[in-house]
Amino acid sequence: MTSPRPSLSSVQVPSAPAAGLPRVGIAGATGFAGRELVRILAGHPGVRLETAMSSGTSGSPRALPGFARIWDGEVVPFSADALAATDIALLALPDAAAAGLVPGLIGAGVRVIDLSGTFRLHDVEARRRWYPDGASYAGASVYGLTEHHREAIRTARLVANPGCYPTAALVALQPLAAAGLLDGDVAVDAKSGISGAGRTPTERTHFSECHGNVAAYGVFEHRHTPEIEQALGRTVTFVPHLVPLDRGLLATSYARVRPGTTAGDIAAAFEAAYAGAPFVRVTGEALPEIKHVAHTNFCDVGWRFDAATGRLVLVSCLDNLVKGAAGQAVQNLNVMLDLDERTGLRP
Ligand SMILES: NC(=O)c1ccc[n+]([C@@H]2O[C@H](COP(=O)([O-])OP(=O)(O)OC[C@H]3O[C@@H](n4cnc5c(N)ncnc54)[C@H](OP(=O)(O)O)[C@@H]3O)[C@@H](O)[C@H]2O)c1
Repeated sequence: MTSPRPSLSSVQVPSAPAAGLPRVGIAGATGFAGRELVRILAGHPGVRLETAMSSGTSGSPRALPGFARIWDGEVVPFSADALAATDIALLALPDAAAAGLVPGLIGAGVRVIDLSGTFRLHDVEARRRWYPDGASYAGASVYGLTEHHREAIRTARLVANPGCYPTAALVALQPLAAAGLLDGDVAVDAKSGISGAGRTPTERTHFSECHGNVAAYGVFEHRHTPEIEQALGRTVTFVPHLVPLDRGLLATSYARVRPGTTAGDIAAAFEAAYAGAPFVRVTGEALPEIKHVAHTNFCDVGWRFDAATGRLVLVSCLDNLVKGAAGQAVQNLNVMLDLDERTGLRP
């Protein structure tokens, strides 16, 4: 005998947050990163999810089946005016769309967390080369790698949320750069699940092309290379690969450390960077795996050190849609609103 289905009235739906909370809007809510933002922010106790938008400017509001019993709102057509009426806008849009929108939002007094790459590079020439659409914006942005820029994020008007590959690479390498331990160039070999490329399939990301396949791409041409180099202040050879996973990203970084560096110095650099950081799990010699971080906001990092030669291999991994995109954006939102960094993000 089948048990009776619960009536809709008996199903727990998150209660509506109280009025008076900061109003947040999401542009790109029908995309991979935007949907993850809706899922997280619908249950966030410190903000009110005011509006979530698709790309078209006409059409009717629609409920997305994937949000049922998570968020009882409807995705509405895109409106810059409605975004400008929020307190914080989260943009999960293509680069050019974000570039066109940000100056007006900042001008209207809205704080912005932009998930695109448009505002991540601070050098104007580099921005002109890698993100020509965003090069005309003269305002400042704060790079949103939360663990390394918390103080600046707290008061930022525009947070440039980091790329997924740079987040994984920099969680591993930035503590060593900050401690002055790196010697020479570094190489980052990274593998990402297909959702990193967004929702619209291309020949490279089509299921039939990527199922059962691993392929390198973007060698010397990927826009995440200058982003990693900007943070580390040294040349980086970055080679991304697509692997047949829906989500998750693993970066293996190869570096040399300065002569005389000990295993204790390396451990101390990580301890200094991440003591008390709720979303970085330092695993030491136990190298992390994608399954340990999928669907969470954790970035795990471990390493092996060959003291005889000074070679260091670091492995870091995260979920590209969470710590690599929406989760880190909400972590930054929490910092901007002076909330506990974990609000809405507990696994
Ligand atoms: N995917 C990742 O793992 C990841 C990680 C870090 C950062 N990011 C960045 O986050 C942004 C979104 O990525 P995604 O993977 O979520 O992309 P996506 O799946 O392709 O989604 C793009 C979203 O933007 C909307 N959109 C497209 N053009 C627009 C326009 N001109 N005006 C308003 N809305 C528009 C789309 O609406 P419709 O559905 O109506 O077309 C959709 O909601 C990108 O800049 C990406 O680089 C992505």
